[in-house]
Amino acid sequence: MLLTTDAPQASPDVQSFVGKDHKLLIAGEWVAAESGKTFAVTNPANGQPLATVSEGDAADVNRAVAAARQAFESGPWHAMTPSERGKLLWKLADLLETHVEEFAEIESLDNGKPRAVAAAADIPLAVDLFRYMAGWATKIEGTTIPISVPYMPGAEFHSYTLREPIGVVGQIIPWNFPLLMAAWKLGPALATGCTVVLKVAEETPLSALRLGQLIQEAGFPAGVVNIVTGFGETAGAALAAHPDVDKIAFTGSTEVGKLIVKAAGNTNLKKITLELGGKSPNIILPDADLPAAIVGASNAIFFNHGQCCCAGSRLFVHRSQFEEVVDGVAEQASQIKLGPGMHPDAGMGPMVSQIQQERVCNYLESGFREGARAVIGGNRSDTDGYFVEPTVLVDTKPEMQVVSEEIFGPVVAAVAFDDPEELIPAANNSIYGLAAAVWTQDVSKAHRLAKQLRAGSVWINCYNVFDAALPFGGYKQSGWGREMGHEAIDLYTETKAVTLQL
Ligand code: NAI
Ligand code: MG
Repeated sequence: MLLTTDAPQASPDVQSFVGKDHKLLIAGEWVAAESGKTFAVTNPANGQPLATVSEGDAADVNRAVAAARQAFESGPWHAMTPSERGKLLWKLADLLETHVEEFAEIESLDNGKPRAVAAAADIPLAVDLFRYMAGWATKIEGTTIPISVPYMPGAEFHSYTLREPIGVVGQIIPWNFPLLMAAWKLGPALATGCTVVLKVAEETPLSALRLGQLIQEAGFPAGVVNIVTGFGETAGAALAAHPDVDKIAFTGSTEVGKLIVKAAGNTNLKKITLELGGKSPNIILPDADLPAAIVGASNAIFFNHGQCCCAGSRLFVHRSQFEEVVDGVAEQASQIKLGPGMHPDAGMGPMVSQIQQERVCNYLESGFREGARAVIGGNRSDTDGYFVEPTVLVDTKPEMQVVSEEIFGPVVAAVAFDDPEELIPAANNSIYGLAAAVWTQDVSKAHRLAKQLRAGSVWINCYNVFDAALPFGGYKQSGWGREMGHEAIDLYTETKAVTLQL
């Protein structure tokens, strides 16, 4: 199933960018980590070193937060009009759009995803997000509120609310969509007038560093966006615990999300938004358009190699169609060509890291030990790249780890149901509640199920449909708050109630 581990070289521009001595962006300057330390970033398609990046830690986070504070409280950003902020965001979108191919290559080398997928999805979605948020900059409005104040009879007031930027924001992002996660975070922060310290994932720092160059080129004032590369336990933890950070926006594991809540509780009770794990149910009802549902179920789990927080990793199918659907999804899986993301025919690249490959394979082994069976896949590849075959599991039980825990790899557990009454409790039987999907031609049933599913996104007859205008986030342990849409704007602002006695 593995195509080859050979892949075309990146373009000269990308090679020269990747090969440079990468630094941190602090106060508008590219600077080395104070410790002088660097670390190597690996190409997951071949296990070879790809780039060398500065290893920022607490000292660098301190510098970056100070720069962000200064830019927030004085200087050109502080004085800028909403329209000017919007213009800068739009310009950033335009610049990014002229470099789609370059970013797609960087993303493919660093993360492992197919270059064509990054060029068709990750980068254009980031462009669109910045444009969407550019539009918001001039539309962040308060309200006027008639008040009564019963203990002051006869008094008259004029009350209104202001929506003000929350302040200095620490943003900690993962490696599955490196550029897009940076955009989801930066867009609303910049639209609202916040300043940012962005801590990118240690596995995939490169596209955010290139974006940092474009942020400078677009003309954002120094200190508005600071980018720190480094490890979670050091740089990330320092940002989460920093007493001068007003908000942390985090995407990653539920485990680290809980650490961030603790760090905020132990310091300054900074505001927090979290976008965490998932174990999303994808439900195919007997009246579904089966061929479409089969393709949809395959995309739901295999897109981005299953390294999606909203991956459709629990597939519920009526027993009467179970075999047909499982065979269909397995057939889809068999057609996916595994190979380096830079290979033009690769439909699926490697896992992002050896650790992630191990994690996925350990889950598979635990499933097999407990009696689960792979209809297709179930193995890693015998190469230096971190490939795992697309896998369809059957004969699972609800209590197995492969069914209850997030695998974050190309592994779907297919489960048969008999009684539609039991379906909703089974689908909702998870500590997570990020996404869910229903495939049916019965519109009433679809909307009824959409209401009953405890998840932040419900897709009907589709999966993985994202838009900058649609809020995204989780119920239960999938997180706090929402990204994108006007909900994200709300979460980067504070509301101030102002009252004047007439
Ligand atoms: P992680 O949660 O450790 O890493 C995500 C980000 O958090 C990275 O930037 C990392 O440097 C940072 N981080 C790590 N420890 C930190 C700490 N103590 N304080 C502050 N920041 C910290 O996720 P990891 O280890 O890469 O993946 C583990 C699992 O997490 C995956 O298998 C998957 O299940 C889940 N995950 C979920 C994601 C999502 O999109 N919701 C994205 C990435 C991982
Ligand atoms: Mg971790």
